[in-house]
Amino acid sequence: MNVVLGVSSGIAIYKAVDLLSKMRKEGWDVQVIMTENAAKLVSPVVFSAVGNCRVFTDTYEIESGWIIHTELSKWADVFVVAPATANTIAKLANGFADNLLTTTALAFQKSSKIIVPTMNTRMYENPVTVDNLKRIQQLGWYVLEPESGHLACGEVGKGRYPDNEKIIEFIKIIVSEKPLAGRRILVTAGPTQEEIDPVRFISNHSSGKMGYAIARVAKMLGAQVCLVSGPTCLTVPYFLDEVVFVRSANEMYHEVLERAGGYDILIMCAAVADYAPSSRSAGKIKKIEDKLILELVKTPDILAALGQRKKGNQIVVGFAAETEHVVENAIEKLVKKNIDVIVANDVSEAMGKDTNHVYIISRNKAVVEVEGTKDEVAKELLLRICENFC
Ligand code: PMT
Repeated sequence: MNVVLGVSSGIAIYKAVDLLSKMRKEGWDVQVIMTENAAKLVSPVVFSAVGNCRVFTDTYEIESGWIIHTELSKWADVFVVAPATANTIAKLANGFADNLLTTTALAFQKSSKIIVPTMNTRMYENPVTVDNLKRIQQLGWYVLEPESGHLACGEVGKGRYPDNEKIIEFIKIIVSEKPLAGRRILVTAGPTQEEIDPVRFISNHSSGKMGYAIARVAKMLGAQVCLVSGPTCLTVPYFLDEVVFVRSANEMYHEVLERAGGYDILIMCAAVADYAPSSRSAGKIKKIEDKLILELVKTPDILAALGQRKKGNQIVVGFAAETEHVVENAIEKLVKKNIDVIVANDVSEAMGKDTNHVYIISRNKAVVEVEGTKDEVAKELLLRICENFC
């Protein structure tokens, strides 16, 4: 993907260097345009070195008949302005073309135009900026709202530059095809924790990566997504429609069952504890006896409950984490729990890893083997569900 990164002179400009680096890691081909004032804050050499790319600042720099603004505007698939100052936004909203960035933007005709406004809160909230932001959206620009918090000027308010990971995700969502548009998907992820006393719990090694990948990719492919997550150390995917945090299997059961009716596709990827202590000690259990025997009771089976209650065209997808006879055991679960699809994986290849090796099994027992990063596996799974059921 070809990206033009337009950089104007917000104080957050140093973060745009890292954005460029992250764009490069995504494998995108990037060229940079800096305004004259931006080039006073950070040398174009820094951007050029980090992005291993060309950096343009001057409209009148002619190279053997190559007219920069028309050529770059044709070359780019995506035009991102980060940071976008109030001044640059005002120009873009009103068709000014008085520097290379605004001139190229005016010549850029594709729909993937994105600005990341960052500025002092009072400038951001000034009615003229508010109007310009409205206008720029009417002109087809996507605006990634700034965050609230401490600003470089020492004030606190809205205007902060968002995380670069969030900007990258925003771009990906905008440019992705949307085969899941109109679909509502609920995903569970992560482990559950079953408390023994105020200090200890029973849990498992699920990191949440597989479930989070499904939620993130489903959003990218256009679905409305609710993520119900057990405790994880991961950053929650940006731009999801609802995120519900739970701890125990019981909590997950109630949160999922309460919402399930409102979703077309339910994907139960969480590693829900099968057993929980029959009671939780109010105080910390003392280390007195040589042996401690815990009584465990079965937790409610969320997937089985969904399989029992599913109505109409609702699709219920389960996962099966196995250590042996992976496909056979998964098929047994598919049948027993009355679900549409089961994704079988070997614990040793799946838990905590960034990659996975799965078998996607449907009711007619057709088995499709997929291996790759968890994002790749998630995409393949979602596209197959969409192709076969939607
Ligand atoms: O989180 P990661 O580190 O990325 O690892 C991913 C994963 C290995 C956790 C994931 O790919 C996976 O296999 N998830 C399912 C884990 C599991 O609980 O498998 P199971 O075979 O024990 O359960 C079968 C299905 O029943 C699962 O969909 C599970 O969500 C569901 N279940 C289980 C128990 C219970 N009380 N209620 C349930 O709904």
